[in-house]
Amino acid sequence: ANTYLTGIKPTGEFHLGNYVGAIKPALAAAREYDTYYFVADYHALNTVKDAAELRHSIRSGAATWLACGLDPERTVVYQQSKVPETFELTTILSALTPKGLMNRAHAYKAARDRNTAAGNSDLDAGINMGLYNYPILMAADILVMEGTHVPVGRDQSQHIEYTADIAGYFNHRFGEGYSFPVPKGVIDEGDGSILPGTDGRKMSKSYDNHIPLFLPENKLKKAIRRIPTDSTPVEDPKDADGSVPFQLLAHFADADKVADVRRRLEAGGMGWGELKNELFEAVNAELGPKRERYDQLMDDPSEIDAILEAGSARARERARATIDRVRAAVGVA
Ligand code: TYM
Repeated sequence: ANTYLTGIKPTGEFHLGNYVGAIKPALAAAREYDTYYFVADYHALNTVKDAAELRHSIRSGAATWLACGLDPERTVVYQQSKVPETFELTTILSALTPKGLMNRAHAYKAARDRNTAAGNSDLDAGINMGLYNYPILMAADILVMEGTHVPVGRDQSQHIEYTADIAGYFNHRFGEGYSFPVPKGVIDEGDGSILPGTDGRKMSKSYDNHIPLFLPENKLKKAIRRIPTDSTPVEDPKDADGSVPFQLLAHFADADKVADVRRRLEAGGMGWGELKNELFEAVNAELGPKRERYDQLMDDPSEIDAILEAGSARARERARATIDRVRAAVGVA
C-alpha cells in the first residue's frame, strides 16, 4: 500500500515555497492515501540553537499542517524527535552508507563552497556533523515509516535519491531478512517544484527572500508590494513569465484568472501594481481562512500539543514494527 510521508523543518517561519512545493501536494494525497506528515525538529537543531525558539517553531510547524486542513484522525501528524527508532535506524544506515555519498551532498558542498568563496583555508569551518549526516537522518525518517511516496519541492530531490540508494544498500546486504520499500519523490514537474522568492532565486529562509505563509493581511499586502519589478510603463507590453509576481500568481489563482492576467500584461495596459493587487487577492483568498485557524491554534497550544502527542505515539508504533524487523535482519536481535 502507498504511504505518503513528508516533513518540514522548523527553523523559523514557514513560507509560500513550503506551501506550494510540499504542503499543498501533501494535502491532496491525504484525501486518498495513508499519510504521515511531521515536524523535523532534529533536522532544525543543526541551525537553531535556542530552546525557546525551537519549541515555538515545532508548534508552529504542527499548527501549519493542521491549519492547512489536515485531519489528524486520517493523517498521522507527529514530531520527529518523539520517534527515537528513527535515530537507531540512522545508526544502522550509517554503517552501510559510503562517506563519499555524503561528500557529494548538495547542502554540504554548498557550505564548503561558501568557505572557499570567503577565502577560508578550512573548508569545513562552521559545518557541524548534523549537516554532514543530514541525508542519512532524512533517509531514516522515510524508511522507518516504510514511506513509498515523498511529496517535496525540487530542492529535496537529491535527498530522495540518496534515500533510494541507501535503501538499496540495505536491501542488497540484508534483503533476505528484511527489505525496505524504495521510496519515490512526488515532485511537481513544472515551475511549482521551485517557487521563486522576491528576488527571483528559490524562495528560502536562508536567502531572506521569502513571504511567510501566515502574515497578517496588511503585512502580506506590503510584502507583495515590495516585490521588485522592472520599470516598464503601465501601457507597454510586459514579460509575464519573467516577472516574479506573475510566477507566484500562477500558483494561487485559477487557470482562467492566470490566462486573463497574462493576456493583459502581454498586451500592455496592465501595470505591475495591478498585477500585485491580483496576486494579493489570490493569495489572501487561499490562505486567509487557514491563517485564522493557525492563529487560533497558536493562541492555545494545548490542542496542538495533544495532537502531536497522539500522532507521535501512532508513528512510533509503526516505526517500532520496522525497527524490530531491521534489528533481526542485521543480527542484533
Ligand atoms: P524544508 O523545511 O526546507 O522545506 C519543507 C518543504 O518545502 C519545500 N520547499 C520548496 N518548494 C518549492 N519552492 C521553494 N522555494 C521551496 N522551499 C522549500 C521543500 O522542498 C520541502 O519539501 N529536509 C527537509 C525536511 C525533511 C523531510 C524529511 C522531507 C526532513 N526529513 C523526510 C521529506 C521526508 C527540509 O529541510 O525541508
